[in-house]
Amino acid sequence: MLVARAVFPETIAFLEQHFEVEHNQADAAWSKQDLIARLQGKVGAFTTGTERIDAEVLAACPQLKVCANMAVGYNNFDLPAMTARKVLGTNTPDVLTETTADFGFALLMATARRVTESEHYLRAGKWTKWSYDMFAGAEVHGSTLGILGMGRIGQGIAKRGAHGFGMNVIYHNRSRLSPALEAECKARYVSKEELLKTADHLVLVLPYSAESHHTIAAKEIALMKPTATLVNIARGGIVDDAALAQALRDRKIAAAGLDVFEGEPKVHPELLAVPNVVLTPHIASATVPTRKAMARLAADNLVGFLVNGKPLTPLNPE
Ligand code: DGY
Repeated sequence: MLVARAVFPETIAFLEQHFEVEHNQADAAWSKQDLIARLQGKVGAFTTGTERIDAEVLAACPQLKVCANMAVGYNNFDLPAMTARKVLGTNTPDVLTETTADFGFALLMATARRVTESEHYLRAGKWTKWSYDMFAGAEVHGSTLGILGMGRIGQGIAKRGAHGFGMNVIYHNRSRLSPALEAECKARYVSKEELLKTADHLVLVLPYSAESHHTIAAKEIALMKPTATLVNIARGGIVDDAALAQALRDRKIAAAGLDVFEGEPKVHPELLAVPNVVLTPHIASATVPTRKAMARLAADNLVGFLVNGKPLTPLNPE
C-alpha cells in the first residue's frame, strides 16, 4: 500500500493494521516519476488531488488495483483509463458536504462585504477616519443567490442562503432537482443565461471535466451584473482566470472569491494584483474533523475493497 501524501498518523496506523504501508513523509507531492517508482509492486494507493493517475502511471504500475482519493473531486483520475485497466477509483463524498458549504458561504460573505480588502487597509495603517462609503459592499441578505452545479454541496449552500439569509435562490445544473429537493432548498431552476444575468452572487460548485473547462470565461462574465460577485469553490479550470482578472480590473463585475485556481498552487499574477478578490489556498473542506473523516473514508475504501471486497464509495464499480 502506498500513501502518496502526508496524512494523519492515525490514518497510517489504521492502514498498517491491514497492509504493509509505504508513505510519503515529506510535505510535498512526489513527481510523476517518483510516484511511479514508489507504486511498483503496490496494489493500492491512497491519493489526494495532487496525484494524477493517468494512462502512463497505470501502464507503468500493472499491479495496481485501487486508488482511494482523499477528496470528493477526482479530476486527478483518468477514470476511463482506470476502468479499462480494471483499477478501482474511490472518492470521499458526503463527509465534507456541510463543511465545504460553510466555506462557500464564508467566501461569499467575505467577498460581498470586502472583509479581506478592508483588513489589509487597516493593517497597512490607512484607517484614519470614518467615511460614509468606506468599503461599502454588496448586500447578502435578501439578494439573489445563483448556484451553478446543484449537487450535495450546492444544495448545502442553497439552504444556507434561503433559510439563513432570506436569499432568493436560483440554480442551474445538468439535471433538475426533484420538486421535493427544490422545495427543501427553496431553489428555482433557471437557464444558465438567466442565472448569469440575474444572480447577485454566483457560486460555482460543479465538477471539473473537459466539458466544464472555462465554463466561466469573458463571454459569460459579460452577462453578469456589474455589481455581482463570483465565488469558485469547485475547481480551477472551470473559470478562465485571465479573463476573470481582467474583468475584476475593469470592474465588469464587483468582486470574486476564489478557493481554487488554474494551475494551482500557482495563482495568475493579475489575480494577485487586483484588490477586489478574496484568495484562499484550496481550503474549503479544511476543518480538522472533516479532514479526518475524509482520510478515514479513503482508508476504509482501501480496506473495504482489498480486505472485504466491498468499497464504500466506488467511482467505477465493476
Ligand atoms: C475535494 O474534496 O474535492 C476538495 O477539493 C479536496 O481538497
